[in-house]
Amino acid sequence: MAVIVLVLVTILLRGAESRKARILENFDYRAISCRAHTASLTEFGGVGDGKTSNTKAFKTAVDKLSQYASNGGAQLFVPAGKWLTGSFSLTSHFTLYLHKDAVLLASQDINEWPVIKPLPSYGRGRDAAAGRFTSLIFGTNLTDVIVTGDNATIDGQGEFWWQQFHKKKLKYTRPYLIEIMFSENIQISNLTLLNSPSWNVHPVYSSNILVQGITIIAPITSPNTDGINPDSCTNTRIEDCYIVSGDDCVAVKSGWDEYGIAFGWPTKQLVIRRLTCISPYSAVIALGSEMSGGIQDVRAEDIVAIHTESGVRIKTAVGRGGYVKDIYVRKVTMHTMKWAFWMTGNYGSHADTHWDPKALPEIKGINYRDIVADNVTMAARLEGISNAPFTGICISNVTIGLAAKAKKQPWTCADVAGITSGVTPRPCELLPDQGPEKAVTCEFPEDNLPIDLVELRKCSYSMHSYV
Ligand SMILES: *[C@@H]1O[C@H](CO)[C@@H](O)[C@H](O)[C@H]1NC(C)=O
Ligand SMILES: *[C@@H]1O[C@H](CO)[C@@H](O)[C@H](O)[C@H]1NC(C)=O
Ligand SMILES: *[C@@H]1O[C@H](CO)[C@@H](O)[C@H](O)[C@H]1NC(C)=O
Ligand SMILES: *[C@@H]1O[C@H](CO)[C@@H](O)[C@H](O)[C@H]1NC(C)=O
Ligand SMILES: *[C@@H]1O[C@H](CO)[C@@H](O)[C@H](O)[C@H]1NC(C)=O
Repeated sequence: MAVIVLVLVTILLRGAESRKARILENFDYRAISCRAHTASLTEFGGVGDGKTSNTKAFKTAVDKLSQYASNGGAQLFVPAGKWLTGSFSLTSHFTLYLHKDAVLLASQDINEWPVIKPLPSYGRGRDAAAGRFTSLIFGTNLTDVIVTGDNATIDGQGEFWWQQFHKKKLKYTRPYLIEIMFSENIQISNLTLLNSPSWNVHPVYSSNILVQGITIIAPITSPNTDGINPDSCTNTRIEDCYIVSGDDCVAVKSGWDEYGIAFGWPTKQLVIRRLTCISPYSAVIALGSEMSGGIQDVRAEDIVAIHTESGVRIKTAVGRGGYVKDIYVRKVTMHTMKWAFWMTGNYGSHADTHWDPKALPEIKGINYRDIVADNVTMAARLEGISNAPFTGICISNVTIGLAAKAKKQPWTCADVAGITSGVTPRPCELLPDQGPEKAVTCEFPEDNLPIDLVELRKCSYSMHSYV
């Protein structure tokens, strides 16, 4: 594998810069592409004092560095320091690299958050019917874009937004920390994301996405602080993430009711592995509730859940249309759960009143195996739709230890069909156990998805930075 070593010594002799301390920074990391050009935020007027706004510095930097897109690409280096900023956009063939002691602080000045149109597959904003505040780090129509660091921090300072949300004062939907839209070849890695105003990482209408080594932390009562939301995305790999949040750790989506049906862009070929989740009021992995463009071929394995409401939950409703199919989950350990499995066809939560009562979602081919859970209140709550039952459910080799205060009936099932094998406690009659003679191992594909074959290169840099 080619190792590209780029030695770039930036010597700035401008008056203001030369009075500042000059530090040699050496760093390397693994990425989908290395860059020929690199510059520090301080070269564009950035001030890392935690008080000065750097929105303009980021915008100027990205604008200047975009000239290298067709000439080896560029990296913007953010040195140690506290960098207050509002929303800014990325460009193609570009890396935003944060030093391990760099903290991006999201501005609380509403003027630093331009408003953009609602997502076409949602028709309206999630918090308010009108537009939405642009995400802190935003990108659209890009190719080859990387946001990474040596576990550096991006702090959304969400308290301000959560209060506005609770007081119903928001005119527009809250911003996310990172949103990349209509793009391909994306890497988001080795960062700690704190206190997002709402969702944390939102790749949407995109493909070839790698999310790796992300720590996400938000208060467990904070509203809608989903961890990672692949939304109408193809070929996504999420691995080695640790998430504590007030909403789903990973929420797989594809648009809402009639808007999502019309847009018709599914999420498919999604790998989730080595995820640890703590989310007492939500799920480890949610499929939906906005799934109107369809969700297909999700492979999740090596998952740990601690004090989380449900393991995998499928949320849908009449009017959603779309489908959730070919879902594969294995090797899950859960401690202290309300429901190990939850499916509902009655989630409600419509975009508006124009949803089509004939638009029934199709839920089929749901495979769960090799799961151990303890201290669980209810093994499963599975509620399909009467004229559109959830079918092809397979659950094998699952041991669920019930809590002292467990519900008397560990399984409740309605409008679902499938089989189980080697599952305790004894499943409901709609999912009959096949018995020891006909033991079944539920399917989990052994082939690779294209995103599994993406290789990372070691990128090494040496540069002077001024603080
Ligand atoms: C992220 O950090 C981990 C641990 O330091 C390291 O093993 C991994 O290679 C890094 N990943 C990337 C993409 O830089
Ligand atoms: C981005 O791509 C989408 C889909 O191809 C297109 O509809 C949209 O106009 C593009 N936006 C910009 C700003 O180029
Ligand atoms: C990254 O930082 C978070 C928060 O400080 C910490 O909990 C986590 O262990 C760190 N991860 C790595 C890989 O160093
Ligand atoms: C059953 O699941 C457990 C827990 O994941 C695993 O260790 C074991 O190997 C599985 N058994 C079979 C027969 O696959
Ligand atoms: C079991 O779960 C309950 C909450 O449902 C919690 O209070 C208790 O500490 C848990 N016990 C263990 C042993 O984890």
